Formats: sequence, structure tokens, C-alpha cells
Amino acid sequence: MLERAKQLIEPSARSNVPPFMVMDVVAAAARLEAQGRRIIHMEVGQPATGAPSSAIAAARAALSESALGYTETVGMRSLRERIARAYGDWHGLDIDPARVVVTTGSSAGFMLAFLAAFEVANRVATALPGYPPYRHILSALGCEPIGIATTAATRWAITGEILLNVHRERRLNGVIVASPANPTGTMMTTAVLEGVIRSAEDAGITVISDEIYHGLDYAFRADCAARFSPRVIIVNSFSKYFCMTGWRIGWMIVPSSLVRAVERLQQNLAISVPTLAQIAAAAAFDGRAELEDVRRGYEENRRILLEGLPQAGLDSFLPADGAFYLYADVSRFSTDSFAFAKRMLEEAGVAATPGVDFDPQRGQNFLRLCYAGSREEMHQAVERIGNWLRKI
Ligand SMILES: Cc1ncc(COP(=O)(O)O)c(C=O)c1O
Repeated sequence: MLERAKQLIEPSARSNVPPFMVMDVVAAAARLEAQGRRIIHMEVGQPATGAPSSAIAAARAALSESALGYTETVGMRSLRERIARAYGDWHGLDIDPARVVVTTGSSAGFMLAFLAAFEVANRVATALPGYPPYRHILSALGCEPIGIATTAATRWAITGEILLNVHRERRLNGVIVASPANPTGTMMTTAVLEGVIRSAEDAGITVISDEIYHGLDYAFRADCAARFSPRVIIVNSFSKYFCMTGWRIGWMIVPSSLVRAVERLQQNLAISVPTLAQIAAAAAFDGRAELEDVRRGYEENRRILLEGLPQAGLDSFLPADGAFYLYADVSRFSTDSFAFAKRMLEEAGVAATPGVDFDPQRGQNFLRLCYAGSREEMHQAVERIGNWLRKI
């Protein structure tokens, strides 16, 4: 009887998604810190700074003045209008607020987008290296993620031509693009972004554009997929540019034909998005000056690493166009990036993420460094990595 009961609570096959290895690095770093070691954290991809003061003030006021009940499922009208207006400021686009759906971070946006746009067993292409939850959410929902290995030849992006080549071999239903991307920090040029959208739409492939790192572009301006088609599903978030990871708030721009489906799904999955976070997010748009200061800090950190790391011995990395990531090729030292990251943490006191999280095969040769920390930490990281690499 007991044996039978145990079988009844076996996890489902669909829940069997791979873990995020970066969390193992986080745990190892915490153990070292508990022993008194000072660790420079470059493993987790989040701003070191908190939400802008305008957001904090609005949240404080709401705590004392509002009952904070549910909101409309698709989000507070005032926030949706503010988000739509931002597309005018950022890209000269006129977005109908009716197409804006507020979500619990972009993570919930992906779940809603995949459920609304794809059937079970549909195939969805993602770039490798790429953000692992794209693949893992898709497989948990019964879709088939198709990883496309990208290379320097296309600036690590899926182009229209590559997409159609894969589509000819295995019919695709969707493709996810991201610019700037995680873990590479690379960006798609406007021509490549437009090309992939046009090719996908001609072939009947639904495009999902992850624009979570918009606002953090240094090499050139990141273009918005909505400029090329009203049928692309855009996923974005207050987590990165707006420094609000823990508030768990994001948004989608949904094609008109999918708005009601997304609304019905979110009604059932979440009822609504945390009200306090929505109020804070609307006010975050008034924190532009602070946020631009933070952005300039990342830009300076990027410069410190781009100049310092080659001298320290890490001289091969992908173009660090945007976001706050540098994806370094460490194959000169090791072809086991997990072991390399573990050693670098223990011996140099710098925590970074092994590339295997993002690209199961070639990631063995890569390490992702997040440069969202302080300027001082970047200088120390360069020094520590340099001293350590000279010894090994
Ligand atoms: C590329 C990318 N997309 C989406 C997310 C999810 O972020 P959130 O759910 O906080 O909006 C992340 C988080 O690191 C990311 O790097």
C-alpha cells in the first residue's frame, strides 16, 4: 500500500526539465561567503540596483492608501496606457493599449504566449546558445523546442535564411528571437531582425520577440519587432532596464487576434498580476534619470571588462553589444566550463555561470560573466581573474 502511495506522487514526465546550473554556483558562492570569503558575483543576471525612487514612493503610498485588491486580468488600464505610450517615445510606434497585457514578469509572458499560440507537439525554434527557460517551458507545455546552433558568421542570431533551411527539414510553428540576448549579450541588426520576421511570416511561423534587455544596448540601437509586423508577440519586463526583478512584473504586446485568448488564460492561471507591482511599475517610467545613470554604469563596466579581461588572459568573447553579459570562450584553459567556473570561484573568488546552461554542447567551452555589479567589483574581478589565470 505504502509502495503504491509513493508511486502516486511520482513527478510527471513533463516536469522533468533540466535544473539551472547557475543556482549550483550561487549555492557554492554562499557556502564560501559563510566561511568568510569575499566573492565577486558575476553569476546571476540581475541589476545590483533596486527599483527607481519614483516606483518605491508609489508603492509606499499604495500600501497605506489602497486595499490592493485584484485588478483587471490584463492589467491596470493606467499601466497599459503608460506602456503603450512608451513605444511612441522609444520607437515612434503607435501601440493600441488594448494589445498590452501585463504579466508576472516576462516568465509568465512566455507561458501565456506559448499556450496561446502553439498546440501540443508544435515545434518552436530557439537560438543556441540561448536562455534555457525558452526550451524548458516549451517542453513542459508539450511543445518541441528546436535548438539552432548559431555562430559568429551571423552575429550569433537566427537569420531568415537559417530559419527557412531548418523549416524545410522539420516544419516549424514558431521561433523565439532575442536582441540583446542572454547569455551572449549579442544583438540582431535591424536587417536581420526584419529578415527573420518576414521569412517566418511568409512560412506561417509565429515569431516571439523577447525584448527584456531593451534599453541596455551599447553597440547600436536595439530595434523593436513591432516595427515590422503587428503579428509578432512581444515579451518584455520591468526586471532589467527598470531594475525590478523581485517585483515580478512584465508585459506583452499581443497580436489583436490573440488578446482574448491570453486574457482567458491569465484569468484562469493567475486572475491578475500583483497590484502593488503594477502601481510601482507605472511610476517607474518617471525614474528615467536614475535608470539612465544605472545604464551608464553598465556601459562603464563593459568598458572595464573589454579592456581588462584580454590583459588578464580572457581574450576571446562574443561581441558584447548589449544587456549586461559577456560570453567568454575559455576553451584555451578548459573544455569543462562547469569545472572551470567551480575552480574560478574557489580559487579566484569570482562567481560566473558555465555556458552549459545555455548550450548543452558548445557551452562546455564558455563562461557567462554578468557585469551588472559595481565599477569597483569589475576592477577587482579583472585583477583576480588575471592573477588566477597566470597561476593555472
Ligand atoms: C532573456 C531573458 N528573458 C526573460 C527573462 C525572465 O525575466 P523576468 O521573468 O524577470 O521578466 C530573463 C531573466 O534573466 C532573461 O535573461
